[in-house]
Amino acid sequence: MRMLRKIWPVGLLSLAVLAGCRQDMHNQPRFKPLAESDFYSDLRSSRTPVEGTVARGQLREDTYFYTGKVGNNPGEVMPFPVTAEVLARGRQRYNIYCAPCHSRVGDGNGFIPSRGFPRTPPSFHIERLRKAPIGYFFDVMTNGFGIMQDYSAQVPPRDRWDIAAYIRALQLSQSAAASDIPAGQKVPSVAPVFEEPGSGATLPVVQIATPEHGEPKAAGPKEEKP
Ligand code: HEC
Repeated sequence: MRMLRKIWPVGLLSLAVLAGCRQDMHNQPRFKPLAESDFYSDLRSSRTPVEGTVARGQLREDTYFYTGKVGNNPGEVMPFPVTAEVLARGRQRYNIYCAPCHSRVGDGNGFIPSRGFPRTPPSFHIERLRKAPIGYFFDVMTNGFGIMQDYSAQVPPRDRWDIAAYIRALQLSQSAAASDIPAGQKVPSVAPVFEEPGSGATLPVVQIATPEHGEPKAAGPKEEKP
């Protein structure tokens, strides 16, 4: 009995040491990505996903939202309502991703073509592009066009639609007719007065036009500083 009392701490100690030797948590029975395995006949440890597998958030059920096309043709409608927020977001994204080549007004005289980009982009204000359906602009951003690369990696689908809506606004800004103005609204047609003309590297600073003839400011589109 005394003997047993003497050795039990030793036994406990060796048990603890042995338990520490278990390496399962360190050397997990798993393959490193793309490692070879002789378990499968094709020697690949990575298995292809079951056909039809869809990653979470990638179902893309709404085909029009992701392609801008109805069948093979670009669609004519926005997939969601255009609000002031949509246009503001579109303008911000456009100025980041498109204006360097297409310019802020969309005439194609951006800074990059001025420095020798192989081709000057067409103006968005030409007849053909004014008549192009809105889905066409979404498609150009998604798949590229000619020597222009696509922007599907940089600009997510929702932002691409926002940009497309903003391009429509840009087009309207250069070609609106009196008949485009809703009945009962007046648009002040005073030319903008520049505090600073802007150098190309800096933006022009427009003096906020004060409403003339005592008209309420809400009567026309709100003037915003660019
Ligand atoms: C690096 C410069 C560059 C950038 C940035 C750029 N584009 Fe372009 N884009 C071009 C060029 C160049 C063309 C003409 C391509 C050709 O004809 O081969 C073009 C053509 C187009 C066209 C006209 C297609 C047609 O039918 O003529 C559209 C629409 C367009 N771009 C939209 C966009 C939008 C929207 C963005 C921003 C997401 C953008 N581009 C960003 C250079 C650019």
